[in-house]
Parts: sequence; C-alpha cells; structure tokens
Amino acid sequence: MSDIEFHNVAKTTSLDEDEAVQVLVNGQEIAIYNLDGTYYATDDICTHAYASLADGYIEGTNIECPLHGGCFDIKTGKATTAPCTVDLKTYEVKIEGEDILVGIPSD
Ligand code: FES
Repeated sequence: MSDIEFHNVAKTTSLDEDEAVQVLVNGQEIAIYNLDGTYYATDDICTHAYASLADGYIEGTNIECPLHGGCFDIKTGKATTAPCTVDLKTYEVKIEGEDILVGIPSD
C-alpha cells in the first residue's frame, strides 16, 4: 500500500460553490470541486480524450466534460455518460483552516 502525501493546493475562499479549478501536484493535473461547501478532487484530464474537466460544467454531482459532453460523478469518479467509459481517479481532500489539501499517493 502506498503512502498518501497531502499537498496544499488552493484556498477555500478562491473557489465558489459549484466551481472547479485545476491545480498541479508534482506536475499532475488535478481538479478540485466545491459542491455546496464540500470539496472533492479527481484527475482533471478527461479519460476520453484531452480536456480539462475544470473547464467543464458542474450539474448536480456530475462534471460535464467541455469537449464532447461526457460526464463523471465528482464524488466517485465514475464515468456516467458516453462517450466516457473509464472512471476518473479520485483523491482524498482535507480542509485545514482556509487551506485545501489533496492527498496524492507518494509512489
Ligand atoms: S474529451 Fe471528455 S468527453 Fe471527450
């Protein structure tokens, strides 16, 4: 089992409700979402082709890819709508004060 390392990636004050932002952790693109005040993290790059999901549209608990309109469940990473079939990785999120920390496996 790999260790999880938490990275301070953004401030809660920089992300409005139902907004997403792309952050880089060790060169890896991660999307952070604010769903009604709860924060989630997934891989930012769509598993269908190359698009940043942080540029997509949040509808309920889904993120809709801006390129071909495929959707993923933000909480589970599950691909919910074609053409997406491969699930996104999700990451643990911790809030410390105003800091958003994302847990990335360290190996
Ligand atoms: S790149 Fe996201 S649905 Fe095609």
